[in-house]
Amino acid sequence: MTSKALTVPAVALGTWAWGDSGEAGDGYFGSRLSGSGLREVVEKAQSSGFTLWDTAAVYGSGRSETVLAQALTGYDRSAYQLSTKFTPQIAGDGDDPVADMLAQSLDRMRTDHVDLYWIHNPADVARWTPLLIPLLKNGTVRHVGVSNHNMEEIALADRILGEAGFRVEAVQNHYSLLYRSSERAGILEYCREHDVRFFSYMVLEQGALTGRYSPSHPMPEGSSRAAVYNGILPQLQALTDRMGTIGEDRGASAADVATAWAVSKGTTPIIGVTKAGHIDGLVRARGIELADEEVAELEALADAADVDTRGFWEHEM
Ligand SMILES: NC(=O)c1ccc[n+]([C@@H]2O[C@H](COP(=O)([O-])OP(=O)(O)OC[C@H]3O[C@@H](n4cnc5c(N)ncnc54)[C@H](OP(=O)(O)O)[C@@H]3O)[C@@H](O)[C@H]2O)c1
Repeated sequence: MTSKALTVPAVALGTWAWGDSGEAGDGYFGSRLSGSGLREVVEKAQSSGFTLWDTAAVYGSGRSETVLAQALTGYDRSAYQLSTKFTPQIAGDGDDPVADMLAQSLDRMRTDHVDLYWIHNPADVARWTPLLIPLLKNGTVRHVGVSNHNMEEIALADRILGEAGFRVEAVQNHYSLLYRSSERAGILEYCREHDVRFFSYMVLEQGALTGRYSPSHPMPEGSSRAAVYNGILPQLQALTDRMGTIGEDRGASAADVATAWAVSKGTTPIIGVTKAGHIDGLVRARGIELADEEVAELEALADAADVDTRGFWEHEM
């Protein structure tokens, strides 16, 4: 039940790219991930206090949830939190498509509850939100959040849950140096004022803000992220170079600076970790305090890059 408040680590971990692992991946990221490599990620993350794992039924058509559960094998269920999503666009035609999709996620993740369950996209808020209420009541869902919802949609979902004594406890939107629409739309402020946790996703712009990728070392050929980002990498160079130097002063990387920026804005970044070494970066990021002038400088450089990284699944905030 939701009587216990939602408590989360400073940074959550994303596993969309994990859907690319093994033979069955959908190739979105073009990553080559192995079960043993992901187990290493889990072990390092869990022992570093990063224990909230975000996934979705649609990531790799369920593969991300399956692989995540395998990588978490042996850990007590109370040692980690699972966050997964109902995606209206793939809803079935049964009496209760939300309960059905959740049941499949629970089965893949070999558990009887999720800590945080999201409506992935705002297809029809009035239709889908009420179906969360029985799941909150029977405890299969502990906390509810909405993703990619604009201000009005968040408020409507909150009203619907409020009538049953529950609430929207978290919001999950695209929020990075390059994409700050939730801030401009007042959603960050709303979350602060209403004690709603704002989770920022794609803080690293799928790798484009890590400093790892550049025009001479582009993202994996043939992957969907390459199609989105490779063409704009030249425009990002000044920003990622500056993130690199700000990081260097603290023994950190450009990616760590991006994560620290999202934390400094009062959000909980969901970082799509794919390698154990990324966890070291999150430990460093956790200790970085950016000066106000640094934040302003990075945001100015991001604006000067003049790129639009809105995902194909996102609408205007
Ligand atoms: N609600 C939604 O609609 C929605 C949409 C998108 C994402 N999300 C959630 O947010 C999570 C994060 O988004 P994302 O995975 O798309 O992109 P992201 O976090 O912006 O970037 C992930 C990529 O950055 C690289 N990376 C990760 N950690 C790093 C580190 N510490 N240092 C250097 N490089 C690092 C990896 O690339 P390489 O493997 O190439 O090194 C990884 O694939 C997702 O996994 C998912 O859980 C939600």
